[in-house]
Amino acid sequence: MPSEKPWWILVGGMRRLGRALAEDLAQDHALVLTGSQDADAAWLEGLRRHTPIRTFRWNAMDPGLGSKMMADLAALESDGTRLAGAVMVAGVFPELPFGQWNMEELESTWRLNLGFPFLCAQALAPRLAEGACLQFLLDTSIHQPFLKRLPYSAAKAGLAALVPGLAQLLAPRVRVVGHALGTVLPDEASDPKWLASQSLLKRNGDPTDLARALRFAAESPYLTGEIITLDGGRRWI
Ligand SMILES: NC(=O)c1ccc[n+]([C@@H]2O[C@H](COP(=O)([O-])OP(=O)(O)OC[C@H]3O[C@@H](n4cnc5c(N)ncnc54)[C@H](OP(=O)(O)O)[C@@H]3O)[C@@H](O)[C@H]2O)c1
Repeated sequence: MPSEKPWWILVGGMRRLGRALAEDLAQDHALVLTGSQDADAAWLEGLRRHTPIRTFRWNAMDPGLGSKMMADLAALESDGTRLAGAVMVAGVFPELPFGQWNMEELESTWRLNLGFPFLCAQALAPRLAEGACLQFLLDTSIHQPFLKRLPYSAAKAGLAALVPGLAQLLAPRVRVVGHALGTVLPDEASDPKWLASQSLLKRNGDPTDLARALRFAAESPYLTGEIITLDGGRRWI
């Protein structure tokens, strides 16, 4: 499905932050959106009025995920669609006190936050156009781990190590950039005012802050292997 706009894939692009990014990026991109569940049909229909959209069901828990990703990406390519960018958004943010984690919780946290983006990167890298940028969403917790979410913080630290590693493996054809985010869309259990007070700029981020950084990285052909911290200065408090 050729389009005049560049095609980007947002892995986890149909809910919460991924959905907000899709709405922003739809202004100047055609989009492939993935999720583990059925898409919200009315929302997708609205988005399709602005830009071409494709969707894939990619579930991190699916044992056949590797071959499904390969088949979907091969079908995309045979339709003439070449991906000019990829953003790994999917994640999970579980909280438990130290002492209460079990192997099942740990495995699902690490699978979704680390194994899944790695597998996606492996499937996507050979399919990305020359000069494309592969971008990962990390967390400001890579600088100061969240003690109630230590396995999450460790997974994001693992992703932070992947960024320069993948940049070396994929250069010079594809660039790799990470974004260590502060609070952008707080979950329902957290207090947005308190979270805002924990940053130098005394505010939470907005999906447009992240969309701007994603476009900046995509449009910066001399940038690779770097992590941009986008947290309103939270790491310095
Ligand atoms: N929100 C923030 O303020 C914030 C702050 C720092 C970092 N981040 C990072 O930004 C990213 C997005 O944040 P968020 O708040 O939108 O996260 P979230 O609520 O945890 O959203 C998770 C995303 O992952 C997908 N997902 C969930 N289970 C999945 C599975 N089994 N297989 C494949 N995909 C699955 C969801 O889509 P489906 O339900 O369709 O599968 C959804 O798109 C995450 O990586 C997070 O760590 C966010």
